[in-house]
Amino acid sequence: MSSLAVVVVGASGRMGTFACDLLAASTDFTVAARVERGDDLSVILRETHAPLGLDLTRAGLGEEHARTLLEHGVRPVVGTSGVDREATARLDALARERALGGIVVPNLSLGMCLLQEAAASAAAWFPDAEIVEKHRAGKVDSPSSTARMTAERIAEARGDHNGAEAGPAREFSVAGVPIHAVRLPGLEAHQEILLGSTGELLTFRHDVTSREAYGPGLLLALGHAASCDGVAYGLGAALR
Ligand SMILES: NC(=O)c1ccc[n+]([C@@H]2O[C@H](COP(=O)([O-])OP(=O)(O)OC[C@H]3O[C@@H](n4cnc5c(N)ncnc54)[C@H](OP(=O)(O)O)[C@@H]3O)[C@@H](O)[C@H]2O)c1
Repeated sequence: MSSLAVVVVGASGRMGTFACDLLAASTDFTVAARVERGDDLSVILRETHAPLGLDLTRAGLGEEHARTLLEHGVRPVVGTSGVDREATARLDALARERALGGIVVPNLSLGMCLLQEAAASAAAWFPDAEIVEKHRAGKVDSPSSTARMTAERIAEARGDHNGAEAGPAREFSVAGVPIHAVRLPGLEAHQEILLGSTGELLTFRHDVTSREAYGPGLLLALGHAASCDGVAYGLGAALR
């Protein structure tokens, strides 16, 4: 099978550089173009005819870039933070109009995907949950898209039970799940999910210690986007 060409948007950033190296070393994908700030994405898409586009730019740009990709017949994989379920639903509608697919992946780590599955499963029995997410100083979005997604998964799993929502108001709360966001030098990407019950505490924890954590999920997401119908939310769609 010939390799699939990918336009990488945000190619000179930390994640973009990592993704380009990963694709260059892969037998399934190649880098069709490296798009940087100031480049005209539409012109590049018309010139390259690549089937896939990968966005790794800046929080706030992911939906716009995914729309541009879809409008040019290119299947998007959005790793950029800040594209929520509502934005994904809008992209899904556009993709289906054009018989295309793609995926929005707030977290490309397989470990985080498994952590969210485990926490959602436990939350059905331990509904009082809080999330502590820790990232490097300077991360633009807070709380992170990943923590928001974890909160939504927990809320879905516990159904009508409001858990910690009944407690005092918190600075951040998504779907009734309080989120504590820490931003400090020395951190990479860390999340703890604390599920409290009378006389016991169940804690799930995930730590990313290097960018390599995102490699397997990135390749899975691209493989999924290459043939799926509509735009999915979360790496779990690529594992099923
Ligand atoms: N899904 C995941 O698992 C995951 C993991 C890690 C990070 N992320 C997210 O991925 C994104 C990138 O992270 P990063 O650490 O690589 O950030 P970064 O190092 O700041 O890289 C972002 C790159 O995007 C470029 N850029 C900005 N606007 C652009 C535009 N309109 N067109 C093309 N390129 C543009 C930036 O160029 P300039 O420097 O010139 O502005 C920069 O090279 C962030 O949203 C981050 O939160 C997601």
